[in-house]
Amino acid sequence: MADYANAARRFVMATPAYLRLRDVLVRAHRNNVHVTREDLARRYLTGSGIEIGALTTPLRVPPGVRVRYVDRKSRAGLLEEEGPELRAKGLNPDAIPETDVVDDAGTLANFGESEVDFVVANHVLEHLEDPIAGLRNLLRVTRPGGIVLLTLPDARHTFDARRQRTSPEHLVRDHQEGPEASRRAHYEEWARIIEGLPDDRIEERADEFAREDARHHFHVWELDDFLELLRAVPLGGELVEARAYGIEFAVVLRKTSPPSPSDSTTGQPCTRAASLGSQLSKRSSS
Ligand SMILES: C[S@@+](CC[C@H](N)C(=O)[O-])C[C@H]1O[C@@H](n2cnc3c(N)ncnc32)[C@H](O)[C@@H]1O
Repeated sequence: MADYANAARRFVMATPAYLRLRDVLVRAHRNNVHVTREDLARRYLTGSGIEIGALTTPLRVPPGVRVRYVDRKSRAGLLEEEGPELRAKGLNPDAIPETDVVDDAGTLANFGESEVDFVVANHVLEHLEDPIAGLRNLLRVTRPGGIVLLTLPDARHTFDARRQRTSPEHLVRDHQEGPEASRRAHYEEWARIIEGLPDDRIEERADEFAREDARHHFHVWELDDFLELLRAVPLGGELVEARAYGIEFAVVLRKTSPPSPSDSTTGQPCTRAASLGSQLSKRSSS
């Protein structure tokens, strides 16, 4: 019965009249984050995939599409750690789905190569210290032809507005030298710009963040900065769509080919990124 209902829904959703009506509605609400996310899901997601870090807003996917939820903690762990803060922000912690797989988005060590049809990660990548490794792993676990759908806060419209945007050079350095190279500076920046602390409080606050292993926004982008990263560092995926809307932007990548050994997290950075890295070291020593 459920199969029949899904097939009927899919049939209606593919009719030209339905699609035209949907386009009108989406255009009218294009700055609404949930409307645009769902529109992208309907355009690009099929089969069986994962959503990382759904928290209180699991993406609504088209009928027949299967999603497993991945997070760094079990649902109980997330409720304990984040529940009070979510409630204080007016969000409903009960909406957090059960975590199917506890894993780190940066490595996805519990997933094999080409295991899923798609990966969704809404507002997750900015929490990773090494987004290049993270992106490569999202693409690694996606089958060739499959989709990686990312949304990220648009720095112009969030509390990050006054922070410097993250360059590809910075990310290549974090990837090559390890995130420890810039962790302290990120913590200090957070204390200074986001918390607005005076100079004599910065070091002490950065120490606290280090003890807590704080995972707030390490990196800051607008859509153009992120597209620059995609152009500078080959990741194994082609850009199929990019949109900025409301407080966030979305990037849709299609996995182009099985990743080469140099595209894995543990391997060396790819040639172009390596050359970007060597240009950088020449520049900084001159
Ligand atoms: C800011 S919330 C995003 C919530 C929701 N997707 C949204 O768009 O509003 C970040 C989510 O990513 C998860 N997360 C952050 N870093 C992670 C990591 N390294 N591995 C797995 N999940 C992570 C957090 O636990 C949380 O569920």
